[in-house]
Amino acid sequence: MNVDLYEKIWMGAAAALIAVFLLAIVVAAGAYAVQPPSHMEVIDPTTVYEDPEFGAPGVETRTDGSVVVTVVAEMFFFDPDPIEVPAGVPVTFRITSPDVIHGFEVVGTNANTMVIPGYVSQFTTTFPEPGEYTVACNEYCGMLHHNMGATLIVQEAGE
Ligand code: CUA
Repeated sequence: MNVDLYEKIWMGAAAALIAVFLLAIVVAAGAYAVQPPSHMEVIDPTTVYEDPEFGAPGVETRTDGSVVVTVVAEMFFFDPDPIEVPAGVPVTFRITSPDVIHGFEVVGTNANTMVIPGYVSQFTTTFPEPGEYTVACNEYCGMLHHNMGATLIVQEAGE
């Protein structure tokens, strides 16, 4: 079979491009840890409500002033809702799901994580300005996925 020279060049270029893309995925996953935040912490999704922490989700202030928010994401709501946190202090979110994969995205910020049954997703962020944010589920989780949201209220520090 005779393959034209230009065709060979294009085939080679296309193959090289695919190789570069695959390499980019491997490098991103290996070197930059593309994976659920805090993927090491596991929890039995069938007993989330018996868990001392996730059985009573809510906002807790530590003695050093930092804040921990425990959230359960399930079809089709977040608990607690609304979530009230102070502005200007580190807020650690700890989120899990008793049913399917959900998302937890604070719209308009870079606070965003997948919530995977069996795992505790954790991240820490600071909201510099008081205000009201929408929390959206950004992973398709069922018939009412589009309704799954909550309100995050960032209050003036000290209130
Ligand atoms: Cu929960 Cu989509």
